[in-house]
Amino acid sequence: MDVNYSEKIPNNVDLAGDRTLQRALEHWQPRFVDWWRSMGPEGALAHDVYLRTAVGVDREGWAQFGYVKMPDYRWGIFLTPVESGAVIGFGAHKGQPVWHDVPGEHRANLRRIIVTQGDTEPASVEQQRQLGNTCPSLYDLRNLYQINVEEGRHLWAMVYLLHRHFGRDGREEAEALLTRRSGDADNPRILGAFNEKTPDWLSFFMFTYFTDRDGKFQLCALAESGFEPLARTTQFMLTEEAHHIFVGESGVSRAIQRTCQAMNELKTDDPARLRAAGVIDLPTIQRYLNFHYSVTIDLFGADRSSNAATFYSSGLKGRYEETKRSDDHSLQDASYPLLTAVGGTLAEQQAPMLNALNEVLRDDFVKDSMGGVGRWNKVIEKAGLAQRLAVPHKAFNRRIGSFAELRVAPGGEVVSEAVWNARVDEWLPTASDRAFVASLMGRVVEPGRFASWIAPPAIGVNRQPVDFEYVRFN
Ligand SMILES: [Fe+2]
Ligand SMILES: [Fe+2]
Repeated sequence: MDVNYSEKIPNNVDLAGDRTLQRALEHWQPRFVDWWRSMGPEGALAHDVYLRTAVGVDREGWAQFGYVKMPDYRWGIFLTPVESGAVIGFGAHKGQPVWHDVPGEHRANLRRIIVTQGDTEPASVEQQRQLGNTCPSLYDLRNLYQINVEEGRHLWAMVYLLHRHFGRDGREEAEALLTRRSGDADNPRILGAFNEKTPDWLSFFMFTYFTDRDGKFQLCALAESGFEPLARTTQFMLTEEAHHIFVGESGVSRAIQRTCQAMNELKTDDPARLRAAGVIDLPTIQRYLNFHYSVTIDLFGADRSSNAATFYSSGLKGRYEETKRSDDHSLQDASYPLLTAVGGTLAEQQAPMLNALNEVLRDDFVKDSMGGVGRWNKVIEKAGLAQRLAVPHKAFNRRIGSFAELRVAPGGEVVSEAVWNARVDEWLPTASDRAFVASLMGRVVEPGRFASWIAPPAIGVNRQPVDFEYVRFN
C-alpha cells in the first residue's frame, strides 16, 4: 500500500474509503493544530526547518527531506503492511488468527493501553517546548524539532486507532489527549515522568536516551499485539523512535567529549574549574543520568502486576522480542526471579512470570540502556581518563513498586533516611547543578557554531555538512 499524499491527511489506511473515520479525523485535525500552536515548540511557528517527512512504510520510508514550517508538517497515518495469515503469538489465544477489529471482551483494556501510550506523545512535546530558546546549535535545534513533529505523528497514530476502532468513546479519548497538560496540577499527563520538566539540553538528551527508550520497549511489546492494527502502527513508530534515542545518545556523548577535552587541557577533574571553563563536569552528568534513569524505569510499572498478566494472557501486549523467545509463550507455569523489598532489605523471590512481566520488560530495558552508557565510557577512555559513568542500581530513587518503600544508594546498598538525606546531593542533581547547567544554555544559531559545553557531531543530517543552515528563522 502506498501512501496517498494527495489527501489532506497522508495515509496508507484508505482514509478516502472510510467516511466515518475521515469525518472524525477532519474534526480532530484543527484541534490538533491549535494544540500545536499553543503547546508545540515556542516561538517556532514560522521557522523553515529542514525536516524529514515519512512518505512510505518500508525501511527507507522517510527519505524525504526539505524545509517545512512545522504547523504545515504532513502528519499522517502509516501502518506497516499487513502480513497475511498472521496469528497471535502468545497468551490464551496463541495460534488463532490476529484480530482486525477490537474483540469485545478486551475493549476496555485495549483502549487503556492505547490512551496511555498516546498520552506520552504530546506530553513530551509540551515538556520540550521551550528548549528551542536555548539550543546549543542549529543542528541540535533541527533534531529537537524533528523529534517534536514525530511525537506529534505518534499521537496521530494512536488517535487513528481510537477513531477507527473505538467509536464515540474513542473520539472522546482523542479529545482528552489534547486537553491534558504536562505538569498541570488539575489535568496532568497520565504517567509521572511525563509531568517532569525538561528544563535544559542535558535533560533533553538524557530524556531522549532513556525515556524514549522506554517508548521503544513499550512499542516493541505492543508490536507483538494480537490486535493487528496496534501491532502494525507501533512497528512503524519504532523506526522513528530509534532516531530519538540516537539524538539522546549522541547528545550526551558530545557533551562528555567536550568535558574530557577540557579536563585534558586544564589537567583537572575539579568541577569548579571545569564549570568555569564552560563545560559540564562528569559528576553532574552522572547525577543527571541517575535521575533520568530512575524516573524512566518507574514507567514500566509495579514489579508485580495483575494487569500485566491480563494484558499478556489476553494477547494484547507481548514481551520484548516475543517471537525470538523459545518458551511456550503462555507462561502459565513459568517463574521469574524478582528483586523485592522485604522487611527493609532487598531479596530475590521467585514470582509467577505472568505477574512479573513489567519487571521482565524493565530488565530488558536495563540491559539495552547499558549499551549506550558503555559507549559514553569509551569516549572518556579514549581521552585517556580514568572516570567512568554507570547506571544506578534499579532500586535507586524509585517511586513505583516495592522499592518505593526503601532508600537505596546508587550502588545498591539500602541506607537509612538520615544517610539518604546526607548524601542525596551526591546522587541526584541539586538545585545548584541545575542552575549551573541552565547558565550554560545560551542560544547558538550561527550555522556551524556550537555551545561551549558540547562538541560538534561527526556528521550532519542527511549527508549535509555540519554547518548547514538546518533552520531558517522567519
Ligand atoms: Fe513517541
Ligand atoms: Fe520518541
